[in-house]
Amino acid sequence: MDKIVIQGGSPLAGEVRISGAKNAALPILAASLLSAGTSVIHNVPALRDIDTIKRIMSRLGISFEIQGNGLAVGCEQITHHEAPYELVKTMRASILLLGPLLARHGKAKISLPGGCAIGARPINLHLKGLAAMGAEMYLDHGYIHAEAKKLKGTEIFLDIPTVTGTENIMMAATLAQGVTIIRNAAKEPEVQDLASFLRAMGASIDGDGTDTITIEGVKELHAAHHTVIPDRIEAGTFVIAAAMCGGDVTITGCRSEHLTAVIEKVESAGARITFKEDRISVRGPEKIESVDIKTMPYPGFPTDLQAQFMAFMCIADGWSMIRETIFENRFIHVSELRRLGAEIEINGGQALVRGKKELLAAPVMATDLRASACLVLAGLVARGGLTEVHRIYHLDRGYEALEKKFQKLGARIWREKA
Ligand code: EPZ
Repeated sequence: MDKIVIQGGSPLAGEVRISGAKNAALPILAASLLSAGTSVIHNVPALRDIDTIKRIMSRLGISFEIQGNGLAVGCEQITHHEAPYELVKTMRASILLLGPLLARHGKAKISLPGGCAIGARPINLHLKGLAAMGAEMYLDHGYIHAEAKKLKGTEIFLDIPTVTGTENIMMAATLAQGVTIIRNAAKEPEVQDLASFLRAMGASIDGDGTDTITIEGVKELHAAHHTVIPDRIEAGTFVIAAAMCGGDVTITGCRSEHLTAVIEKVESAGARITFKEDRISVRGPEKIESVDIKTMPYPGFPTDLQAQFMAFMCIADGWSMIRETIFENRFIHVSELRRLGAEIEINGGQALVRGKKELLAAPVMATDLRASACLVLAGLVARGGLTEVHRIYHLDRGYEALEKKFQKLGARIWREKA
């Protein structure tokens, strides 16, 4: 088990390039198996979660091969249709294989994803949508057994704009008989990137990026090439880090239009942000103003940057209210931030943060992917010694060599065996 060690207090300066988006690459890799060809996906980030979905897909008969700076995904034949518990328990997003397997292969046996640190994470809306399209499913010994001779298009209303739920139903609908309309669909950029890839494969999809997506089923899809969009959550993590640590950082290879809500809040805290084409430049403020945030579905403030923004507000001037509306238990990082001297009061889905002049270095423990990023950011500003972030396998699920990217910006941060 590794740990990350940080000597806080250095301002950040220089350029950092953003990797491909984990939450776009995962559904796009899953979607590749909708065609019996070899798609090539570019800008796939080197992450644990990507390794996990490749391991599961390999068991289904899919082959992977590096092709230049792309990943060739050979889906000529599906030999198995089971996603096993020991892999699904490490990555809930494995449920994204359900829709494509049903559409292409007519059968799927997927371990029911359990909850995780941030919440119960039910998949009832995924199953409701697929059942409405004619899939027969039952739960047995912890596995979802699903079968569908031929999925049929229908109209589906999602009680909650679930991201992977929208993606699963959209993928299944591409090969269904007739038209599927998804109402109250998720609008995240990652849903739109998946729709772009599916269209490149020959799917007929309209309305992605709005709350109503219409998919007209086709007989078959062909392989395609696609470049994954940049990771807006990684980019947002660096925008917040630059504002927290002071200095002058340029984030390249990103899409500022995916970060409007975050940029607005970091500017309100006093940072000076300019952007053009695929670059965002951030100059940290002398004094950090306290700012309230409320997490919302896209284009609102993303829940995946809530913990990072809370670390930022721990050293702001005054009180800030952080409201988490997406997940019921996404404040686990609070107890670890308190170890660094943060003053935070939790009341249900609200956390009241009283900004302090400084945080004090201490050993802390990561509990989930974005909480680990939050603790790294807090360590970058903590004084009086070394901050150690333990259990950083959580971090490696969703950030490509984060400590190396911060080292390049001048941070005193390194990885050690724990
Ligand atoms: C996706 O998870 C992301 N993961 C999450 O990123 C992200 O936090 C989340 O969307 C919200 O933006 C991937 O894309 C792989 P949801 P997802 O279904 O799809 C409830 C990260 O750090 N819900 O949009 O699982 C659910 O409990 C991860 O990269 C149901 O009730 O999230 C939650 O309260 C963490 N029934 C809300 O909806 C369902 O069938 C939103 O969940 C599905 C969801």
